[in-house]
Amino acid sequence: MSEHDRRDAAGIRETTGNGGLSRVEVVSALGTAEVYLHGAQVTQWQPSHAAAPVLWMSAHSSYDPAKPIRGGIPVCFPWFGAHDSDRAAPAHGFARLSDWTLTQAAARDDGETSLRFELAGERLSEAWPFRFRAALEVIAGATLTVALEVENRDDQPFTYEEALHTYFGVSDIFAISISGLERTTYLDKVGAGGERTQDDQPIRFTGETDRVYLETTAACVIDDRGLRRRIAVSKEHSRSTVVWNPWIAKAHAMADFGDDEWPGMVCVETANVGDAAVHLLPGERHRMTVRLAVEPY
Ligand code: BG6
Repeated sequence: MSEHDRRDAAGIRETTGNGGLSRVEVVSALGTAEVYLHGAQVTQWQPSHAAAPVLWMSAHSSYDPAKPIRGGIPVCFPWFGAHDSDRAAPAHGFARLSDWTLTQAAARDDGETSLRFELAGERLSEAWPFRFRAALEVIAGATLTVALEVENRDDQPFTYEEALHTYFGVSDIFAISISGLERTTYLDKVGAGGERTQDDQPIRFTGETDRVYLETTAACVIDDRGLRRRIAVSKEHSRSTVVWNPWIAKAHAMADFGDDEWPGMVCVETANVGDAAVHLLPGERHRMTVRLAVEPY
């Protein structure tokens, strides 16, 4: 059997997606998923037992090789947010703007589908001029596991930030809550900013929210009675969790985000940013993993 036929039999197809961009579609007894090679971005995952897609996608997303896709799981690497010193460097790094290569695709014995994407290079950006190899592993089925592994292939040490910037679909941002970050210190990126500490209650949303929770390895649970589900977000080798909803004005300011879309999404991002940036010596590797599981009420 050819590699193409083997993948086809496993429900894995390489197709042309929006904007003519290449994507991998997965259909198995356990669920469906879709990953664009542009950014190695997971844009869809729905386990068979879930009544609705788990990830949020903007209906206004660009599908343009020069722009990031809005929604799903953008891979932010090797910096998060604006670059520290180079204002011309793209926000959240170059990984989500790069075309990754699909290097493995197979059905596993447990019925889950495993995909591996790679991005390797040297001086891909003046703002981060190192030789590296990054691999994104996606295991889709009843749960979704995404792991970003980075290897230093340079002859000098390097430091990077990373985030699996996961957008979740929610029934109504006013009605959900997120637990797991109680009593955790966070950097508030809204208004005057500064460090604050979450009280002993789950997060509820009443306005623009852009927070980097510091030194937390905890799992979070998005409790959504409207969609009658809880989504558990658990992680490994990640010390930061970012929680984001742009609210009205920021949503309006983004060309690829509908004015009425902000109440239907929330980002809970598995990350290593700021003081939690990863330092790698030549030859070293680091792997950060997030696992999503949906429990119906
Ligand atoms: C979040 C950041 O992770 O991503 C926000 O904390 C930012 O500050 C948001 O606005 C979206 O970024 P972008 O570049 O995809 O519009």
